Amino acid sequence: MIKIAPSILGADFGNLEREIKELEELNIEILHLDMMDGNFVPNITFGPDQIKNLRPKSKMIFDVHMMVQDPDRFIPRIAEAGADIITIHQEATTHLHRSIQLIKSTGVKAGVVLNPATPPETLQYILEDIHMVLLMTVNPGYGGQKFIPVMTEKIAKTREMISSYPIDLQVDGGINDVTAKQCIEAGANILVAGSYVFNGDKKENIRKLLGENER
Ligand code: DX5
Ligand code: ZN
Repeated sequence: MIKIAPSILGADFGNLEREIKELEELNIEILHLDMMDGNFVPNITFGPDQIKNLRPKSKMIFDVHMMVQDPDRFIPRIAEAGADIITIHQEATTHLHRSIQLIKSTGVKAGVVLNPATPPETLQYILEDIHMVLLMTVNPGYGGQKFIPVMTEKIAKTREMISSYPIDLQVDGGINDVTAKQCIEAGANILVAGSYVFNGDKKENIRKLLGENER
């Protein structure tokens, strides 16, 4: 089953509540929230207080993608703000295993994100501990970038690695109707999309992302 996780970075922040309502009416189950710290990535977005503020507005699964250096500093507050799953970058923490345990100790599901240049083998010894792997298909920091084609090979390799574990494989960056199909074929089952979902008719865009796949 393929799921679309719209990234609110692509939404109109002046009308966030309405944008979120529209997604719920389209039966979207996962909302992707991109937290950026201006340090790990060259951009700043929002933090735990804004997530807490949004929480009562939606029943969707809050999937918080932390693009934050030393994420342990913020994990408890993000969990408390109402995250359902927190993904942290392998490149942003010295003690990945410890950071994952910290997320799980808050009762929230844990995922790990890999930048385009980071090999999937780095996940080998934490597969029992995580619910999701997020593969960046662009360099993190901005919406609207172009998909890096060689990432389909990495998706396939990662899918093979996680095949005997109940782990979701999410992709993020430059996902449109064409790249969505390539990612699904390679083994991704959750597609994050920002600009593609929010530019124009959301219903039609989501339909095109899913293609022939059932949701
Ligand atoms: C990029 C973020 C993405 C971004 C995706 O650093 O992690 O979630 O919003 O945007 P698009 O779909 O426009 O590439
Ligand atoms: Zn993201």
